[in-house]
Amino acid sequence: MKVSIFGLGYVGFTAMCCIAKEGHKVTGFDVSEEKVEQINNGIPPISEPGVLELLTNGLSSGKINAFSNIENHLDDSDLAIVCVGTPSSPDGAHDMSYIAEVTRQIASKVKKDRKSPLTVAYRSTVRPGTVEELIAPIFADELGKDFEKTISIVYNPEFLREASAIQDYFEPPKIVIGTLSGGRNEHMELLNKNIDAPTFHVGLREAEITKFVDNSWHAVKVAYANEVGRICLQLGVDASKVHEIFVSDTKLNISPYYTRPGTAFGGSCLPKDVRAFQHIAADCGANTHLLDSLLRSNEAHKFKLYEHACSGLRPQASVLLVGLAFKANTDDLRESPSVDLARQFLNAGYKLSIFDPAIQATKLIGANLGYAYTQLPTLSKLLVSKEIAERGNYDRVVITNATHKMLTLSPNQSIVDLNTLS
Ligand SMILES: NC(=O)c1ccc[n+]([C@@H]2O[C@H](COP(=O)([O-])OP(=O)(O)OC[C@H]3O[C@@H](n4cnc5c(N)ncnc54)[C@H](O)[C@@H]3O)[C@@H](O)[C@H]2O)c1
Repeated sequence: MKVSIFGLGYVGFTAMCCIAKEGHKVTGFDVSEEKVEQINNGIPPISEPGVLELLTNGLSSGKINAFSNIENHLDDSDLAIVCVGTPSSPDGAHDMSYIAEVTRQIASKVKKDRKSPLTVAYRSTVRPGTVEELIAPIFADELGKDFEKTISIVYNPEFLREASAIQDYFEPPKIVIGTLSGGRNEHMELLNKNIDAPTFHVGLREAEITKFVDNSWHAVKVAYANEVGRICLQLGVDASKVHEIFVSDTKLNISPYYTRPGTAFGGSCLPKDVRAFQHIAADCGANTHLLDSLLRSNEAHKFKLYEHACSGLRPQASVLLVGLAFKANTDDLRESPSVDLARQFLNAGYKLSIFDPAIQATKLIGANLGYAYTQLPTLSKLLVSKEIAERGNYDRVVITNATHKMLTLSPNQSIVDLNTLS
């Protein structure tokens, strides 16, 4: 393939070297004439282990060339990869001017009578909607509404880390290919044919949001680890031992558990122990802002779930809540988010019924009984049997946990599943 790369910084220059090593012919473009000159003279514009050797080999085999102007170099390109910067604007949003500018340049130089469309793959980190709302309109302005005859747009986030960039290029944690249709792109298939990694073919927005979700998660992990570290330091606890125990748990801690967007956390342990850990941290002056934000974040989520569950419902509509305990197959109602949800439905005047076979109002005892009747004094009147739940013609069925697997619901029923946010 002939590959063009726009933006020869950390991402673009590394890609240039690695793609040339794969045997493709790579033409790089950068607005910085200094970078272009350095590259053509065999000097890497960045400090990164292994790139000098790849650049030297690429130049001597004629597989690498750099330019500061596109001229007619795009004519025989199969694939253009955009790696320009998206730095922070003063308001925190990404500055999209380099993306817009490079897109205009490509749009003005690509030939309309190409035999097959040029794939333009964006690797810069951009917010969801950028391709559809910024990039595609620029191509449409220049090339007309049927620009997809000339250009195939792909969003392909980059996961390399500086200092191990070459290894990360060839051994990425995953490959994400976003297209308008969510389908495959032949040039991206060819580019990645020797790379063994889980590959996801998705819509553009799912691909665009990936880096934000990943990078913010990394930041959460570091901030959380350091808050634990501060508490340990203050309490004279060995933080490295605590870390060893924490990461050894690959069932619940370092695992996909508790990472799925869905219902709020609740139950008899998580809220109680988070509150107590916050107290311990405050008591020893550890200043744990992330820990302090967890319960507020959970409350915000509960409110959003309520809004989502009753969206479009008329006043006084009938609602069946499926699952009242904090998870299926337990009668533990303490701090269950579904109890809050039920209370909100009742306060708003909806006709509420609840199905949860694990809960029999007459059998609740102790703290569980106290919590249930403090929060939902009319609980016994709200609970319905399986037969009634299945027969009832509810305006909305709201699923909160796996209890719904015990029901056969009509396919015409209006259902909101809070487990999957659908
Ligand atoms: N650096 C990383 O480790 C990393 C990892 C993954 C993703 N990313 C994302 O990739 C993107 C690029 O990051 P980077 O660190 O390589 O940036 P960088 O600043 O090192 O490189 C960007 C390059 O683009 C060039 N450029 C700007 N406008 C241009 C144009 N119109 N035509 C050609 N070249 C142009 C600049 O001169 C610069 O050399 C960013 O969106 C970043 O968030 C970076």
